[in-house]
Amino acid sequence: MAAVEQTDTHLPKDSKEPSISEQSTPEQILSLGLAFWGSKTLLSAVEIGLFTELAKGSLDFETLAERLMLHPRSARDFLDALVALGMLERDHDRYANTPETDLFLDRTKPSYVGGLLEMANARLYPFWGSLTEALRTGQLQNEAKRGEEDFFAAIYADPDRLKGFLEAMTSISLGAAIAIANTFPWDRYEAFVDVGTAQGGLPVQVALAHDHLSGGGFDLLPVGPIFEEYVDSHGLSDRLRFCPGDFFEEPLPQADVLVMGRILHDWDLEGKKTLLAKAYEALPEGGALIVYDAIIDDDRSENAFGLLMSLNMLIETPGGFDYTGADCCSWMRDAGFRETYVEHLVGPDSMVVGIK
Ligand SMILES: C[S@@+](CC[C@H](N)C(=O)[O-])C[C@H]1O[C@@H](n2cnc3c(N)ncnc32)[C@H](O)[C@@H]1O
Repeated sequence: MAAVEQTDTHLPKDSKEPSISEQSTPEQILSLGLAFWGSKTLLSAVEIGLFTELAKGSLDFETLAERLMLHPRSARDFLDALVALGMLERDHDRYANTPETDLFLDRTKPSYVGGLLEMANARLYPFWGSLTEALRTGQLQNEAKRGEEDFFAAIYADPDRLKGFLEAMTSISLGAAIAIANTFPWDRYEAFVDVGTAQGGLPVQVALAHDHLSGGGFDLLPVGPIFEEYVDSHGLSDRLRFCPGDFFEEPLPQADVLVMGRILHDWDLEGKKTLLAKAYEALPEGGALIVYDAIIDDDRSENAFGLLMSLNMLIETPGGFDYTGADCCSWMRDAGFRETYVEHLVGPDSMVVGIK
């Protein structure tokens, strides 16, 4: 059969040809499609220690390029791209950190969040290259796919790497922890435990804001010394204790309030429900469970970070996924909680509260 030739003359007179106007341009599509250019430029800058070098003081182009061992072909574009991306400042020929990159990307400062970006550069960046395979198979794409050593097992076996990882958790969750310390009605309760506490970022913020509270953090045994050092550095060792344990193997500690931050999204539905049931068991009548994550909006159309985090769980875990506030409230009610509500915290993070 002969192909029908499609020419403009065959188009009905009133057909609307696609037009590129000021209202309709491909700019947003192209900018998102190539967003990895900027992302990888920042990740490489963290990898080679650019911000740590500049934290010692601003440097002229020649010195900086030499210190970072940059090839003459790349140096100027790399550094100026970071200026244009808002990650560096430049005054004539001298480059300096911005206030934010100086605070958060200098490896020598406790506020360093680059540990997470180093991990994103070394692991997530290549693993996300197999996203299409994950979308088609539903299978994780990290080290486990090739039977290599489990990344998190390796971190937990090395106290220095573990400390860096837990410090990064504190930095990432500080905003949510401060918001929970300020907005939850803590005056109604006396004792709380943060389950999967990492370094103890949340218990420290809550205890600093509320003198009457005592409690602690529950986490795997190797986390203990790092939690205790951090709590001690805030002068809170008399009010915050570490409880070692595995939340799937042992009952959760008893307290008026339990917190689970960035825990539920790691697990499949059965794991999530197991943890909610354990929290319900450990709470007294009137006690509260606070769950926080990058909770997805109920319409699943706005919290892009939460939705992408869920795809990251697809890449990283056998069954983990992020969830909406409505999802979490319904699982909490199934577990027995009589009252639930969702409250926005900061950025993409919200908390879901269940009252027993
Ligand atoms: C993603 S981090 C969240 C840390 C912190 N709650 C926050 O919001 O930043 C998960 C934490 O859960 C802990 N964890 C993982 N599996 C655990 C288990 N089976 N029992 C107890 N803690 C566990 C990890 O050690 C880690 O500190």
